[in-house]
Amino acid sequence: MKRKRVLAFRGMTADVEANLASSFDIDILRDGGQRERETLLQSVKHYDALCPTVADPIDREMIEACSGNVKIITNFGVGYNNVDINAARDAEIAVTNTPGVLTEATADLTITLLLIITRRAGEGERLCRSTKWDGWNPTQLLGVSIAGKTLGLVGFGRIARAVAKRAKDGFGMRIKIFSRQVLPSPDLERYGVEQSASLDELLAESDFVSLHCPSTPATKHLIDAASIRKMKRSAFLINTARGDVVDERALTQALEAGEIAGAALDVYEHEPGISRELLAMENVVLLPHLGSATQETRSAMGMRMLNNLVEFFAGNEPPDRVA
Ligand code: DGY
Repeated sequence: MKRKRVLAFRGMTADVEANLASSFDIDILRDGGQRERETLLQSVKHYDALCPTVADPIDREMIEACSGNVKIITNFGVGYNNVDINAARDAEIAVTNTPGVLTEATADLTITLLLIITRRAGEGERLCRSTKWDGWNPTQLLGVSIAGKTLGLVGFGRIARAVAKRAKDGFGMRIKIFSRQVLPSPDLERYGVEQSASLDELLAESDFVSLHCPSTPATKHLIDAASIRKMKRSAFLINTARGDVVDERALTQALEAGEIAGAALDVYEHEPGISRELLAMENVVLLPHLGSATQETRSAMGMRMLNNLVEFFAGNEPPDRVA
């Protein structure tokens, strides 16, 4: 049987690329998806499947350009807000993601951000590198403790649950959650969390607010100027979800005005762009979308993506179909 032609938008770990190449005719865009859009629009129609990543927008124009030939878009990532799902449905193109395999890595990174921002580790590192550190003193770079404090989780899917476990069992924190789905008491007890009646309540009661909801039209700018004003002045915001869940301009203004104590961000509204204002702030930690960035996790994500391709072209329902 003729091998299917697959276009991957970015290079992946060696094991994933080797496995993909053993089953498919694969082209990989080595320029990190930077290929000129016109050229890309021309070339996508030559493939049976597209494998973009969360950083590659697959909009209606691109879907229309490949429709007829491309039968499946296997997104490399659990979030799939980069793909125009309605356009894919209209074109009868299947879409899959890679859930489950990045839960632990992303939860670890959330805790990393919590610790970096509260212990001022970024500032400390910059001080060492500046060669201006003149020795230990009792009041230098004092942060805040997290034991016994309240961590508010917005969204309570797999990643938020893994964060809750770490924060509660590992650091002795109290966990509040805000989720549109009301969790039955046995579940709340099992996870050791309390459900807030509203987002406002969670924001007002939390010392740290961590975002774990997907990017959808309903969650765009969920955290805006008004909601930031509900937070404690001593609170920190952590975002490992998606940039557009936060109104970044409002966040910047709130940080400038001292309305909250700081923010630790792994994702940005205009990714990979980060505003000059945020870059200049000492009380802000900035990471380049590293949530799932471990060797093991990126390999597992690739294998999950490959499995969706293999199942689909074998005539089966791909396990991680989202559209
Ligand atoms: C995802 O898979 O959605 C993550 O953001 C990638 O790290």
